[in-house]
Amino acid sequence: MRRIILDLFAGPGGWSHALTGLGARDIGLEWDEWACKTRAKAGQLTIRTDVAPYPAWIFCGRILGLIASPPCQAWSMAGKRLGLVDQPLVHQSVADLAAGRDTREQLLGECADKRSLLTAEPTRYLHALNLAGEPEWVVMEGLRGRPGLPAGALRLGRPAPCQREPPADTPAPTFAAEAHRWSWSLRSNNQSNATVRRADEAAGTLFFGHRANECTWVADTASDVPDSEQRSAPAPIKITAQEAGVLQSFPADYP
Ligand SMILES: C[S@@+](CC[C@H](N)C(=O)[O-])C[C@H]1O[C@@H](n2cnc3c(N)ncnc32)[C@H](O)[C@@H]1O
Repeated sequence: MRRIILDLFAGPGGWSHALTGLGARDIGLEWDEWACKTRAKAGQLTIRTDVAPYPAWIFCGRILGLIASPPCQAWSMAGKRLGLVDQPLVHQSVADLAAGRDTREQLLGECADKRSLLTAEPTRYLHALNLAGEPEWVVMEGLRGRPGLPAGALRLGRPAPCQREPPADTPAPTFAAEAHRWSWSLRSNNQSNATVRRADEAAGTLFFGHRANECTWVADTASDVPDSEQRSAPAPIKITAQEAGVLQSFPADYP
């Protein structure tokens, strides 16, 4: 029997896409509708489910490798970082699950952010799989997430923001002629503590959900423009889905 690579919290398919390039496939467990649709369009296999209540034992005897990328929002600088408060509970859950004790319900009741305990889920799957002497290997994505590419990488796949078509209400010749005046940065959302990274820095984690979906290019006067020539900066430009994908290291034509 051909053994499976299981991908917990599979997202839109970063690991799956890399595996495809290596001639392998995984089966993702993921609950988000749009991540699942993206995976389907990319030809990736998915079980749309919540990883936490899903039975792990059903995979026993079938697994070659385990990939796990628990969500990092509970620890994110863009959030309240209650994961840090919950850390002892997460450690307790990992220790309990590794010994075959499922104390998640009780620990979850004590968590300040319910998402914190998802970090312990890979241990539950590993404990079940280990009873069958599996898996052969495990890879986990760090809680700080995969570093984004510098925005300059966009030039490989598509125009950088200063080379893009101007917004409809901006006179095109002025915009094009003045593009060099601005140094562009990527602001990861519309909250006051949003990550802002220059185009030559690694992009922050781009999170599109609820209120945090205003990911924009923001312009600042370039450092080589004399004070006498400074003008007010153009309005922020909303990032495209394709740009966001490239900055998270997906190819430009990824669905
Ligand atoms: C760090 S991202 C994974 C990115 C993925 N590793 C990739 O390479 O594209 C975490 C994913 O976990 C999903 N997720 C969060 N909580 C979940 C849960 N309880 N069950 C299933 N998926 C969940 C989110 O929707 C998100 O897509």
